[in-house]
Amino acid sequence: MRRILVTGGAGFIGSNFVRMVLSEHPDCFVVNVDKLTYAGNLENLQGFLDRPNHVFVKGDICDGPMIEAIIDEHQVEAIINFAAESHVDRSITGPKIFIETNVTGTLTLLEAARDKKLERFIQVSTDEVYGSLGPEGKFTEQTPLSPNSPYSASKAAADHLVKAFGHTWGLQYNITRCSNNYGPYQFPEKLIPLMINNAINDKELPVYGDGLYVRDWLYAYDHCTAIWQVLEKAPSGEIYNIGGCNERANLDVVNLILDRLGKPKSLIKHVTDRPGHDRRYAIDASKIMRDLDWRPSVSFEEGIGKTIDWYLQNEKWLASVVSGDYQKYYDSMYLNR
Ligand code: NAD
Ligand code: DAU
Repeated sequence: MRRILVTGGAGFIGSNFVRMVLSEHPDCFVVNVDKLTYAGNLENLQGFLDRPNHVFVKGDICDGPMIEAIIDEHQVEAIINFAAESHVDRSITGPKIFIETNVTGTLTLLEAARDKKLERFIQVSTDEVYGSLGPEGKFTEQTPLSPNSPYSASKAAADHLVKAFGHTWGLQYNITRCSNNYGPYQFPEKLIPLMINNAINDKELPVYGDGLYVRDWLYAYDHCTAIWQVLEKAPSGEIYNIGGCNERANLDVVNLILDRLGKPKSLIKHVTDRPGHDRRYAIDASKIMRDLDWRPSVSFEEGIGKTIDWYLQNEKWLASVVSGDYQKYYDSMYLNR
């Protein structure tokens, strides 16, 4: 039986990963450590919390003694680090927590993995570490790191630390760099769930700047299967880009959501741009496709339909995450923008 420590497993992608592993790889034992910040939610694990091969621990990845005790108690063999502060806009208004969790937290996990001689450390990184593209070209694993936001700078710092632990102490590691994810359980601060939620409620859809910024969208389940392939098959020290060859301008994504929900285009409102906004991301994922035989399984048209249906069918989940603090966040970010 594989025994893995998943961090951030109550967040969007982490919970999709935990559900995938428990459903499709029942011989794997998962310890799930999550601090349950505003983005973490045990409802994301509904139906899976009490599985015999799953243990949830509320905790901070900056807490080294706790992480070491968990590794010992559950005979953990590998860490997959999803835990992070993940929203670019929040990193612009308050960067400090991004350094604490994304840099110091990753360092703490690396020290534990090194000292406990774990078989593998997988760092879930992002294509944003490469910076921004012009109209042509794609990020490859050789593209130099050139992060532009406090969020992406903190993720790039973590990537450097992972490589340094491999180089200095022989830590067995992989780094994955994925493009923009969407799908069920995504917190509605990110583009797609925010626009779905606003459109359902006939609220304005705040498109930053000209709306012609381009992102390369991947259904979260496909990101999770890619990480599983890395765990199963990847040689140590390899970095993998993950993406679905699915570039879209933000306005096209927003228009598609309005069309699917039967709502008018007049809901779109162009608002003041994000400072330092990266113009375009696009991923060359040929390495993971060739070497680990991974392919995305869900097209964007299918995935956006499944995602909209999920939000429509999970009104209670949505209502609970947009109450209280979310409303304050929304007002501070969008009111009078
Ligand atoms: P998320 O914000 O939805 O979830 C992050 C989770 O980490 C939450 O459950 C939160 O409670 C937890 N967490 C935060 N600080 C913690 C701490 N100090 N200790 C323990 N747990 C903590 O994020 P997500 O979108 O699911 O992203 C997961 C990972 O994937 C991140 O590392 C992110 O950088 C990376 N990533 C995200 C995307 C994307 O499009 N969302 C794309 C590529 C890579
Ligand atoms: O590329 C991977 C990254 O994708 C991940 O590492 C990050 O964790 C994740 O948050 C995401 O970053 P982005 O900044 O690309 O995602 P976001 O959903 O915040 O924004 C997507 C695009 O939509 C971006 O061009 C900004 C724009 N946008 C976003 C919001 C929230 C708007 O126009 N209006 C909005 O209200």
